[in-house]
Amino acid sequence: MNDSFPEEVALRTETDIVVVRKSVREAAIRLGFGITDVTRIITAASELARNVFLYAGSGVVRCRVVSRSDQVGLELIVEDHGPGIADIDRAMQPGYTTGNGLGLGLPGAKRLMDEMEIESEAGKGTKITVKKWRKGT
Ligand SMILES: Nc1ncnc2c1ncn2[C@@H]1O[C@H](COP(=O)(O)OP(=O)(O)O)[C@@H](O)[C@H]1O
Ligand SMILES: [Mg+2]
Repeated sequence: MNDSFPEEVALRTETDIVVVRKSVREAAIRLGFGITDVTRIITAASELARNVFLYAGSGVVRCRVVSRSDQVGLELIVEDHGPGIADIDRAMQPGYTTGNGLGLGLPGAKRLMDEMEIESEAGKGTKITVKKWRKGT
C-alpha cells in the first residue's frame, strides 16, 4: 500500500468483512498506530462494511495513507451503489435503524475515527470517508 495505489477490498459476501478487517488491521499496524487506535479503526471499518453488506448488498472498501503538514493517517473509503441514505442526520443519531440493528454503527464509526464524511444520494449509493490521524511523531 502506498499513497497513490490504495488497497481495495470488494464486499460481496459477509465473509468479505473478515477480509476488510484483516486488510485494515495490517495497514494500520504498518502505519504505526497503537493497539487502541488499531482496534478503533478495525471496528469502524467493520461497521461501515457491514452496512454495505446489509443495506446495499455489495460495494468496495479502499484504504490509503494520507498526510497533512506534520501528520500521517489512514483513510478508508467505503462505497456502494445501493439505495442511499435518505436522511443522513437521522441515520447519524444513536439508536436509529431501518433494519434490525442497534443503530450504533454510523455514530460509533464517527466517534472512533477523527473525521467522517458521508455522501449519499437516493437510488445512487453511499460513499463514506473516514480518517484517523496518527498521534505523536
Ligand atoms: N451503506 C448504506 N446504504 C444505505 N443505508 C445505510 C447504509 N449505511 C447505513 N444506512 C442506514 O443508516 C441506518 C443506521 O446505520 P447504523 O448506525 O450502522 O445502524 P444499524 O446498521 O444498526 O441500523 C441504517 O439502519 C440504514 O438505514
Ligand atoms: Mg450498521
